Amino acid sequence: MTAGLILFTVTVAVFCDALHGLSHTHFQATKSAGSSDPQFTEKFFTQTLDHFNFNSMGNGTFSQRYLITDQYWKKGYGPIFFYTGNEGNIWEFALNSGFITELAAQQQALVIFAEHRYYGQSLPFGKESFNIPEVGLLTVEQALADYALMIRELKEQLAASHCPVIVFGGSYGGMLSVYMRLKYPNMVAGALAASAPILSTAGLGDARQFFRDVTADFENISPECRDAVRGAFHLLKQLADRQDYSGIQSEFALCKPPASPQDIQQLYGLLRNAFTMMAMLDYPYSTSFMGNMPANPVKVACGTMLRGLDLLANLRDTAGIVYNSTGLLTCFDLYSLYVQCADPTGCGLGLDSLAWDYQACTEVELCFESNNVTDMFPPMAFTEKDREAYCSKRWAVAPRPGWLQIQFWGDALSTANNIIFSNGDLDPWANGGVRKSLSSSLVALNISGGAHHLDLRGSNDSDPASVVKVRKVEAELIAQWVKMERNRLTAAYTQL
Ligand SMILES: *[C@@H]1O[C@H](CO)[C@@H](O)[C@H](O)[C@H]1NC(C)=O
Ligand SMILES: *[C@@H]1O[C@H](CO)[C@@H](O)[C@H](O)[C@H]1NC(C)=O
Ligand SMILES: *[C@@H]1O[C@H](CO)[C@@H](O)[C@H](O)[C@H]1NC(C)=O
Ligand SMILES: *[C@@H]1O[C@H](CO)[C@@H](O)[C@H](O)[C@H]1NC(C)=O
Ligand SMILES: *[C@@H]1O[C@H](CO)[C@@H](O)[C@H](O)[C@H]1NC(C)=O
Repeated sequence: MTAGLILFTVTVAVFCDALHGLSHTHFQATKSAGSSDPQFTEKFFTQTLDHFNFNSMGNGTFSQRYLITDQYWKKGYGPIFFYTGNEGNIWEFALNSGFITELAAQQQALVIFAEHRYYGQSLPFGKESFNIPEVGLLTVEQALADYALMIRELKEQLAASHCPVIVFGGSYGGMLSVYMRLKYPNMVAGALAASAPILSTAGLGDARQFFRDVTADFENISPECRDAVRGAFHLLKQLADRQDYSGIQSEFALCKPPASPQDIQQLYGLLRNAFTMMAMLDYPYSTSFMGNMPANPVKVACGTMLRGLDLLANLRDTAGIVYNSTGLLTCFDLYSLYVQCADPTGCGLGLDSLAWDYQACTEVELCFESNNVTDMFPPMAFTEKDREAYCSKRWAVAPRPGWLQIQFWGDALSTANNIIFSNGDLDPWANGGVRKSLSSSLVALNISGGAHHLDLRGSNDSDPASVVKVRKVEAELIAQWVKMERNRLTAAYTQL
């Protein structure tokens, strides 16, 4: 099933993001076939539309995309490494999770990256998928059942019934990996959940946490950097208070002058989102994941913020690091570069952003605020009430706060096992996740100097020592789980 190509070129239209963000980047990845370069084959799986209602859709199905490579696999024996796709095109995750294929090469594993329903090309109702009520089959539970069914059927097709399955995921994908282990321990032997904010998204957190931690990243470069950002927003607010809209247009190179307080809020949101993206994607080398980032973007941003005395120009050019990475933007279009939605950390752009917005309106809680006290951003509240009002208007749904806590155990995880919770201390999502080990098999790992799921990325010469060490610990734990599960499966089969 390997592609058997020496060279392949993938052109991917990315409307992606991992829990939030940007971007609508068009990128090309050219992979040459070295021993460690993965050669995924893209396939489609005939998936049940509705796992939980036998009447509504009858036996209806849709095509769910997945990527697979057996180039490292010891056939019929090696483990299966299954990436539980999150909110975006699955190629985007496959091309930015090199650790999984590096580990597959070591442990002779089959690798599968499954695309989440309603994202990328896995649209159950094509263009109609985001209509009401068609969007209603977009739930975490349906997505998990998709993965469970896919695992069972592919194991059968590939004569892999004795092969232990380990799930992997980053961000929301990491949450799904945790949930797979909780819901389907019969099929999944263990989970690596990288940067998975399973607590904050279940309403177990502090609304101020996210933007406070974004701010901390800039403050850690220098307190002057934080002050410059706050100062620039203060100047912007003064212009807005005076309704000097043409002044704002020229300072920020906006395509159109703002014309209302709503446009000013939109500008605040767009600017704040640039800092969010740079904090999340603060990798030590340049990347093309959720947009193009230079190496160490937070440091680059602080260099720009402190470049000269014109704070507004500095703020504009700092936002340009994110929105104008091509250098081709002639002006900032307030409503096309950033879309406000039920996730104040950003939903990205394109169709994937609709799906994520719907999830943020139903099960996934993301009520984060900035307040200009515990963070450096203009006060922008997003309360449960704001969420309710928005979601009722946008999707005709009422969010169900607290449901994820009931369904997926909240913070009462101690009776689970075989889960790794890894988090980087630069990642604003980290403190929404599990930071302390809960038992010898519920292991929290810290990556000092690590941004959003750095550990899932392929090895790089610029990696901090911490991530090299964490990947080793992860590899050892996973090898142990595979061994335990193989013993269990072998015992079960010999009894038959
Ligand atoms: C779906 O169900 C109908 C009615 O029971 C049956 O005729 C049809 O063959 C089924 N289709 C599939 C794909 O199983
Ligand atoms: C985008 O970057 C280019 C190159 O640095 C610059 O000339 C241009 O003014 C920038 N666009 C905006 C809107 O800031
Ligand atoms: C942030 O707080 C400072 C100090 O209270 C104030 O001067 C400034 O205007 C505030 N900034 C915004 C954008 O509200
Ligand atoms: C990871 O870092 C956090 C924040 O500094 C700390 O509270 C936690 O105890 C650390 N966890 C581990 C497992 O070292
Ligand atoms: C590290 O990252 C840089 C920038 O993305 C890339 O050019 C390089 O190939 C990567 N790999 C290694 C092994 O350093």
